[in-house]
Amino acid sequence: MTTLLIQGGEIVTDTKRFRGDVLCKDDVISQIGENLVAPEGATIVNAKGKFVFPGFIDPHVHIYLPFMGTHAKDTYETASHAALIGGTTTMIEMCCPARSDDPLEAFDLWMSKAVGKSACDFSFHMGVTKFDDATEAKLTEIVRRGIASFKIFLAYKGAFGIDDGELYRTLRLAKKLGVIVTAHCENETLVAEKSRELLAAGKTDPSQHHESRPPQVEADGVHHLMSFAQMTGAATYIVHLSCAEALERALDARARGVRVNIETLIQYLTLSKSDAERPNFEGAKFVMSPPLRDARNQAILWKALQEGEIDTVATDHAPFDFATQKQMGREDFTRIPNGIPSLEDRIRLLYTYGVCSGKMDLCTMVRVASTNVAKCFDLYPRKGSIEVGADADLVVFDPGYRGTISVATHSMNVDYSAFEGWAVQGCATEVAVRGQLAVRGGIFIGEIGRGQFLKRKPSYF
Ligand code: URP
Ligand code: ZN
Ligand code: ZN
Repeated sequence: MTTLLIQGGEIVTDTKRFRGDVLCKDDVISQIGENLVAPEGATIVNAKGKFVFPGFIDPHVHIYLPFMGTHAKDTYETASHAALIGGTTTMIEMCCPARSDDPLEAFDLWMSKAVGKSACDFSFHMGVTKFDDATEAKLTEIVRRGIASFKIFLAYKGAFGIDDGELYRTLRLAKKLGVIVTAHCENETLVAEKSRELLAAGKTDPSQHHESRPPQVEADGVHHLMSFAQMTGAATYIVHLSCAEALERALDARARGVRVNIETLIQYLTLSKSDAERPNFEGAKFVMSPPLRDARNQAILWKALQEGEIDTVATDHAPFDFATQKQMGREDFTRIPNGIPSLEDRIRLLYTYGVCSGKMDLCTMVRVASTNVAKCFDLYPRKGSIEVGADADLVVFDPGYRGTISVATHSMNVDYSAFEGWAVQGCATEVAVRGQLAVRGGIFIGEIGRGQFLKRKPSYF
């Protein structure tokens, strides 16, 4: 039996803060209390002056991602290492087959990239990138194997995007199976028309990316999804919501009874479109979809998180090297691989720029980066909580730490950081995955291959 005792920290959950010890036996939390006696042979962590959080969960990452003519850079080995250093103990990856791929074969392929290669726990959202006569049986089988969420794209037509008939059938099946549908919401026709106009006018640099995808493009995508969700009764989850206009459409729908959860990203809370306007092609580091927005949106998103309107904060981690892969779009912004890596940075940025600057309280940080994610994706209370019987995924966090983010020190397998030189307060010093330390003293000591595939059971009937 492995035993871990975390002593004297301030335990922080989504609803309360209190001082205490946490005793973990094998994979789970066995006791919470004051002055717990260490069993013989226990690993002891002194958490005095530190916070003890439930393991953080990133609900939106890309690790194996063939996309825009290239592949995202991380593997499960590098991504899970980076996640754990940053305090993330569970990742949910998007399984994104091409339209021509068989869904079951794709699921097996994505599993093969992860099983035996991850140091943290993981699951997948199953991408539905085509819906034909054979799809229902295949998706039903994938759900039987432990997947409780689908992923659809209203953007990227010709690659991952689906048409309206496919959207309707996917949502109808999701309702029948009790599966929640996560969705990338942008009106792709508007993107295509705007991109064509801009390129024809010789506007090719990275800053044109956000000109081609203004807030209306995203708001229209959200409105579209909401109409279909209302007609089918399916539960939905809007991924990477970036702006006030899209938020308004989602909240309108929620007010009329549409089942919708909302995710924003750490990038939209901290970066803005001025970053994508940096000269000498440096803006390419900041190209993602939906694009970074006018900075006025940041305060709106922080407030919506604090007030419970937005449910979760993810990263949409999608690492593409600047020196090589981003260069594919030198002459044409539509060819810049989309994505801003940040899997390792989410929690320290949330703490520094949210909690320390007074935009978010500590329990809200736990709620949006852990507990709500577990609740949305059928992992709660096994994950996202500190209670007896829950998985012993725990983060000991030192609020006294001061440092800076840099590509020179990060663990993600990508050649730049969008947050280069940014000051951060606080860091994860110890991180446990199911009772075993994977980070000690800020150093990765995890075991590649120990991370488990989390079988989930759908609940959205
Ligand atoms: O720009 C982004 N978001 N890249 C990853 C693919 C996606 O849309 O989620
Ligand atoms: Zn997306
Ligand atoms: Zn994504």
